[in-house]
Formats: sequence, C-alpha cells, structure tokens
Amino acid sequence: MKRSEINEIMRAADEFIRSFGFILPPFAYWSPDQMRARRGDIGGIVDARLGWDITDYGEGRFGELGLFLFTVRNGSQDDLKRGGGMCYAEKIMISRQDQVSPMHRHIVKAEDIINRGGATLALELFNSDAQGHVDPDTDVTVATDGVLRTQPPGAILRLEPGESVTLLPGNWHKFWGERGDVLIGEVSTVNDDLTDNIFREPIGRFSDVEEDEEPMHLLVSDYDKWL
Ligand SMILES: [Fe+2]
Repeated sequence: MKRSEINEIMRAADEFIRSFGFILPPFAYWSPDQMRARRGDIGGIVDARLGWDITDYGEGRFGELGLFLFTVRNGSQDDLKRGGGMCYAEKIMISRQDQVSPMHRHIVKAEDIINRGGATLALELFNSDAQGHVDPDTDVTVATDGVLRTQPPGAILRLEPGESVTLLPGNWHKFWGERGDVLIGEVSTVNDDLTDNIFREPIGRFSDVEEDEEPMHLLVSDYDKWL
C-alpha cells in the first residue's frame, strides 16, 4: 500500500470511530518524530505492539481484502504463561462494506468480536478438523452474548450493533461489513499477531508499504524499522 493511502485511511478511521463516541488514546496522535523522541519511555507501547494497524494482507486490494485495526491495550505473554496478571487485549477495528478479513483461526487467542455500531457484521464460521484445517462437515456452535447458537458449517452469522460472538481457538472465521461499514470491538486473550494467526489461504498479515509521503503516524508494523 502507498503511505499516502495509509494516511488517508487513518484520517477516515479516526473520524468514523469518533462518530460513535469512541476516542483513541493519546499515543494514537503522536508523530513518528514524537515517538522517536520518547522511545526511552514508550517500551510499553512498542513492545506490546499497541497502535495503528492497517492491512491489505499484502495483496494490494484494501477495499476488497483488508482491515483497519487499532490495538488499544495488550497484556503480557509471561503473565499468560503463568496464569495471572495482564492476560487480555483490546482492539477497535473497522470492516468496510464487503471488505473481507480472510478465513483464519488462532492458536492461543480467544476473542469476543463485538459489533460496536454501524451496519451488520457478517461472519462465516467453521470448526477445525483433527488436523486443524477447516472442517466442512460439522455444525458450529458459538456463544453470542451468552446464548449458544448452532449453525451449519460455512453459514453466516450476522451481528447487529450491540451483539457479539465469542470465538475460541480453532474456530475458523472470515468477516466483513454488510450493507455498510461496521465499527468492531475485539476483547481477547493477549494478542500476538506475529505468530497466532493461521490463514486458510497463504497470505500475509501486514501490508508492504510504498513510501510516497511522510507517515502521519507509524503503524505497529513500522516500529522495528522506524524506532
Ligand atoms: Fe480473528
């Protein structure tokens, strides 16, 4: 993706998120220079990989295959291993109308995916088979706001604003906005996007960036290179 496109997506996302009364934390608005100047005391942001995350899954078709994410908080793998402390994470995301986040599952992370407002959030769901692949044969049961729902493999679960679903490790899922753009919350186990996403099709998790203008804010995937 071009950096100019990423900057434009950031502007539009900030406006969309604010329209629902949700405000991003202060570090969202720091420039790359401000982040560099504060590098010594922002280990908690950089190491936890908090911040802007805009992906086209490396395919260059953001409108059709892409997702806007902002990681608001993220706990510690050490706490997770020891079974106490900061074992949780939170993201705010936007799926635009018919913009697909491709079929994937997680190894460790359980996640509540929440329709925080806007249009309908559609999710296609499968179980895993014994090898961890998409199971085309078994019905899928998920909890939606505490209520179990069972549907055929590959059926679409639709969440209206206010509704959520709990996806456990092994639940394959693909999702998109239906009839409009959707603000999505994610409340989950500690998040590690470097190792915990298994995609059905071979695909990247992050964008390749073409630098055609200065970044307004850094992406999480910029931290290693820019800070
Ligand atoms: Fe997921």
